[in-house]
Amino acid sequence: MIVMGIKAFGHDTGAAIVADNGSDLEIVAIAEARLNRIKHSWRYPFLSIDYCLSALGLKNLREVDAIYFDLHDSQNRRNLSKSLPSEYDKDCDTVPAFNQVIHSLLDFGKTKVQYCSHLAAHAASAYYLSPFSEATVLVVDGGLGVFSGRGNCLEIIDMNGYNESWVNGAPSELANVSGTGPLYNFVTTKLGFSCFDAGKTMALASFSHEFDKKDIYPLPDNRHQDVLINYRPTIEWIRKNVPTFDEIVGAEQEDGLVSKFWVNLARQSQQVLEEDVLFIAESAIRKCKSKNLAYAGGVALSCITNRKIIDAGLVDNIFVQPASSDEGIALGCALFGYYLEGGKKRKVLDGCYLGKNHDTRNLSETLKNGNLNSKKSSNQEVAKLISQGNIVARYAGKSEYGPRALGNRSILADPRRPEMTSILNSSVKHREGFRPFAPSVIETEANTYFEMPFPGPYMNIAAPVRPEFRKLIPAVTHVDGSCRPQTVTQSQNKDYYDLIDAFGEETGVYCIINTSFNDNGEPIVETPEDALRSFRRTNIDYLFIDDQLVWRAEGVSFDRSIPLSDSIKDERSRDLLCQYCDVKLIYEVLTPLAFNNGDSILLMSQEMGLLENIK
Ligand SMILES: [Fe+2]
Repeated sequence: MIVMGIKAFGHDTGAAIVADNGSDLEIVAIAEARLNRIKHSWRYPFLSIDYCLSALGLKNLREVDAIYFDLHDSQNRRNLSKSLPSEYDKDCDTVPAFNQVIHSLLDFGKTKVQYCSHLAAHAASAYYLSPFSEATVLVVDGGLGVFSGRGNCLEIIDMNGYNESWVNGAPSELANVSGTGPLYNFVTTKLGFSCFDAGKTMALASFSHEFDKKDIYPLPDNRHQDVLINYRPTIEWIRKNVPTFDEIVGAEQEDGLVSKFWVNLARQSQQVLEEDVLFIAESAIRKCKSKNLAYAGGVALSCITNRKIIDAGLVDNIFVQPASSDEGIALGCALFGYYLEGGKKRKVLDGCYLGKNHDTRNLSETLKNGNLNSKKSSNQEVAKLISQGNIVARYAGKSEYGPRALGNRSILADPRRPEMTSILNSSVKHREGFRPFAPSVIETEANTYFEMPFPGPYMNIAAPVRPEFRKLIPAVTHVDGSCRPQTVTQSQNKDYYDLIDAFGEETGVYCIINTSFNDNGEPIVETPEDALRSFRRTNIDYLFIDDQLVWRAEGVSFDRSIPLSDSIKDERSRDLLCQYCDVKLIYEVLTPLAFNNGDSILLMSQEMGLLENIK
């Protein structure tokens, strides 16, 4: 049985396939952003669909038995959206109505198409890849979901959000509430960040020990009466009474964001989130009667909050889905569909390398054009280069699914060098100076450097750096002494394990800085071409691509004017649209349609490069 999951509406579109080959479950998954190079892309995920099919050697969708979509924001159940993209989200890179129209006209074989709820897709992504045969399954994102996992079934206990409403195992009339996730996201935008940058709020909150504690906004009385906490009035209060951090004014202030008011705003929000998640997790565990917790949803990316769940002793075991934000929805849809269609096999996630292999053998022309040298190299040589202060990007094998690079699309550096934090932030990643870096560590050594008596293979559980090691590995120790390690085993990624081991043999330190291989504003690199482009743009010293070491020719320096992407991706996406749709019919349907302001939906779709300008 072959089941495809597709997220086609809202941000972070993508596709995944779960294929039961009789003896094993094969899984491939990718976000559209990785392929079209537009962060959190909203575009219909044709490139992802094509990628997943080709990864498994499938020629077309006819070979797929079922396709499951999520009902994100119920967009495909509502009437046609008349909103302009900019009204919906300033970063939206498609016309919502265009996605709706092409979805209704796709040549997918309509009998194969099924839908599942957004919250159930998150839940499926966590439970079915966990090591548990029974679990409390918790989803905290823009909504909230509590599910009881037993065998291959997920039972709904509570759902609120995306027009879903269940309370204590029964459908309810309760309207959507704005819970702890939306409050945190709203504060994140007040700090001047995008709504996708909740991690920056968490990093800023870590500076709270440097300032007097002062709460910025009032909270509802007795807010922990029910798992559905309603912060709508709180959000309205903040909207009216709290200014938005302005980057230009902020830069003129002495410390910008790292100052009393803004750190307190972040700190209060982080504290509220942690208190809420602990309360919600405890309630969910009580209802589901299992101390195995499978956890997903955007809030599950909060590694400090996840650690609090463990430290509070609420759970016996925890599995936090690495692609817990909406990037993981396509995979959740595929898993949800596979078990609903009667699938029986289970697979425990061990490493998150769900992309496909790319051919890196024929890069000589690209290397020549970029004035780049190359030679065959080894983990030992690369480990030595890193120990000498060089920054090395590693590109190998299948890409990671989700927001964290786990060695195969990573930039690596020496954690012993305190200057690495500012070098990486300012001249490699081009991002805020207060943001920390995380280490990859050999699993058996993790508890030596960090207070981490358990594995953390996905960089989603925080751990304090042991005080005696904070001076030894300053570049991965955040201001509050915390960090977010990735533990690595040979079974998860043998070659990456060997590289960290070689660094340990060289230096005596068995951990290494690991940050995602991308520039600011760019998704993590997917193809060898993306890797070479990003390498040429940034101040990375070497690129270790499979077994080849690449470096710039004498006198050549990095060049920020090289574009982040090229137009080929748009062309490929339009080709696939023609493959899956009758384009003439799309024109007929789109031609009379207009946004609320009277503008033509067809014209804007053409202007955004979504379809050819055919007359
Ligand atoms: Fe979500």
